[in-house]
Amino acid sequence: MSQWQELEHKYFMKTVERLPITIVRGQGSRVWDENGREYLDFVAGWAVNSLGHCPPVVVEAVTEQVRTLIQTSNQFYTIPQIQLAELLVQHSCLDKVFFCNSGAEANEGAVKLARRYGKRYLDGAYEVITAMSSFHGRTLSMVAATGQPKFQQPYAPLPVGFTNVEYNNIEAIKEATSSQTCAIMLEPVQGEGGVNLPSDDYLATVRAWCDQKGILLILDEIQTGVGRTGSLFAYEQYGIEPDIMTLAKGLASGIPIGAILAKDRASVFTPGDHGSTFGGNAVACAAGHATLKYIIDNGVAGNVKRVGQYFTGKLKQLRQKFQFITDVRGCGLLIAVEFSNDIADSVVKTCLDRGLLINRVKPNALRFMPPLIITNSEVDEALSVLDEALSSIVS
Ligand SMILES: Cc1ncc(COP(=O)(O)O)c(C=O)c1O
Repeated sequence: MSQWQELEHKYFMKTVERLPITIVRGQGSRVWDENGREYLDFVAGWAVNSLGHCPPVVVEAVTEQVRTLIQTSNQFYTIPQIQLAELLVQHSCLDKVFFCNSGAEANEGAVKLARRYGKRYLDGAYEVITAMSSFHGRTLSMVAATGQPKFQQPYAPLPVGFTNVEYNNIEAIKEATSSQTCAIMLEPVQGEGGVNLPSDDYLATVRAWCDQKGILLILDEIQTGVGRTGSLFAYEQYGIEPDIMTLAKGLASGIPIGAILAKDRASVFTPGDHGSTFGGNAVACAAGHATLKYIIDNGVAGNVKRVGQYFTGKLKQLRQKFQFITDVRGCGLLIAVEFSNDIADSVVKTCLDRGLLINRVKPNALRFMPPLIITNSEVDEALSVLDEALSSIVS
């Protein structure tokens, strides 16, 4: 264990089992540890480093902004947040934006917005229906929204107002809907839950149900948004539009940011209803604007689609070779490989030893979420390491 790792053990609350490398530098799709060893990064800060590590366009925008203005209070107008909001609205189906600092905070705000809507238009309805295997964040309310008992049980009693129902089951949503329901909140593709894709008509049917009942559809695109699934936002691929959408992760290339977007009719906050000290921070918004503009101007989502298909196709070939691969699924560059046994930890460690960073999303499944600018040849490089790792586990 290195000196840094010893100090971490001394000073940190143990909330995560870290892998035994200390990353000191990143460039493009690669990072380097304190001993100068290079790794190909297919974790990308948990789907955050959209344009890879330290992308020049973002470094320049942030550097310029840090020299000019870092932060004022939201009592004043500032330009970077207005520019980012304009870009988000011009390129989505939503009309209004609120900025915050993380995904969980964006979802909290989205639920507050839905409750505000419920107070105004739905006789005080406040309940939000969410799906099992979802992940919406670590605040107490988002733990209640997250349909995974392992995140909920240690913190009971949880805030009221959330019902978790089976994913991909429209009847379960219908049964759970009552006069107290103000919204349904879903990830278009479940990320942390194991890269679970919606069945063909699920999202469209949920949308129609929300319209029928006059309740709101909130899409949590914190992991799927900003190009990750091969379109700028995942909802575009399912022929629906949300009333509220949340973003974070890949929006600002690693500078903390979160955003709530809403249609005009759902945008019911009035002054004083909601707020944030750092939300809309000038540096974060400059990073967000540079990231999003690059993604839009350079058709990065198209690259995600092409390389994602290439990657998925190659993984399916690997499945022919290794019978213990039971599934390959995903959308764009959010891909999972599932095994018949709980070998994901050992595959992650073997790949790490061979210079590839990947994520264990379940004991028996890996998740790949590389930078969106990844190339076919980097995919080939990752696949050859993975192939070796799987071969070594079999033997
Ligand atoms: C879909 C989704 N929602 C919300 C969150 C929480 O985001 P944050 O960790 O920024 O609070 C995550 C994080 O993984 C996520 O994947």
